[in-house]
Amino acid sequence: MPQRRDLAEIRKQLLGWFRKYRRELPWRLNKDPYRIWLSEIMLQQTRVAAVIPYYERFLERFPNIRALAEAPEEEVLRLWSGLGYYSRARNLQRAAQQIVSTHCGEFPRTADEALALPGIGSYTAAAILSIAFGAEHAVLDGNVARVLARLDAVEGDLRENGRWRSLQASADALLDPKSPSDWNEAMMELGAMICTPRAPRCLLCPVAEFCRARQLGLTEAIPEKHKKRATVEITLAAAVFLDTRGRTLLLPPPHQARKHATDEYVAPLISKMWHFPTIAVREDSAAELEKFLARIGALPASKAKPTLEPLTRARHTVTYRAIRLLPYRVRVSRLPRITGTKCVLLGELVSRSSVAASNLTRKIAQAALEEPVPAGKQRLRAANSSR
Ligand code: ADE
Repeated sequence: MPQRRDLAEIRKQLLGWFRKYRRELPWRLNKDPYRIWLSEIMLQQTRVAAVIPYYERFLERFPNIRALAEAPEEEVLRLWSGLGYYSRARNLQRAAQQIVSTHCGEFPRTADEALALPGIGSYTAAAILSIAFGAEHAVLDGNVARVLARLDAVEGDLRENGRWRSLQASADALLDPKSPSDWNEAMMELGAMICTPRAPRCLLCPVAEFCRARQLGLTEAIPEKHKKRATVEITLAAAVFLDTRGRTLLLPPPHQARKHATDEYVAPLISKMWHFPTIAVREDSAAELEKFLARIGALPASKAKPTLEPLTRARHTVTYRAIRLLPYRVRVSRLPRITGTKCVLLGELVSRSSVAASNLTRKIAQAALEEPVPAGKQRLRAANSSR
């Protein structure tokens, strides 16, 4: 890490810029540690614009740590539904329960205590403790690492162990001890708004004159792209039962289900939420789905079986898995009765509010509200990914 003779000037420029140009975001209204904690968890792997409406709804329903700790898990997941990475919501609630039982409902003030909570790692602990309490902990996430790497022209994969440690040391050295809260947010803001991965806006950057990457013409080359894991293609077939009152059948979250009710291969893809009967298929999707439905007792074993009407196909991405969705509508006069399953209005599933279901399930529901397509002619909906 280079010695900084320009340290005071860098701090002054960046803090001045942040105080003038910072975005008004709902988690910047006050220093309540619960509100800051919630924002940091929601912002992991999720864009600010996508987070804001979820953040506001969540706080309205769970305005403080106790309210969150005491809520049924299902309701917490319902309010998280569509935001993805649902383990974040489960950990958040477990941590809230731990805070109530061991810290009298107050977010702890030391790093060791914060790090002992589920879902809180070194970045999140540093962000909460510095922003809420002004503690001297420097944050380091992907955005901040990019800013630091460009300032010092750090080449190579930033996530490599030694390199990440030395970036943390740079972050610690730069942190303004007089304003840890604004400093950390300023670094994040610079990474999000100016020092972006592609086409950084160096002409607007308050610390451009101190940037080694800029001096060396390396801003586009730093940080080095890291190798992405190869994509795995998976095809899922899902059955959307529909009765005469517009209701459909959902299977319970896999951990709650009787073992045979959810296809083992599918379980990790549906985020432990309520879901349509779904299986991974290889060749004859309709026949394989029909067999699965018979096995879980959703189709009569013999007699006249309802037809599986193919619907518009969709695509969905979960991290490195590219999923092709083949939804089938199954019209019935009465929904099959299977213990532990749920019966909901199909339309409500699409409008988000009623059930803890993932975006994958909502995409299938959307397809089922549209017209079926003739057999063998399943169209492919324009690819769009989500978590
Ligand atoms: N990303 C992570 N934390 C953030 C914050 N406090 N403000 C804006 N973006 C963020």
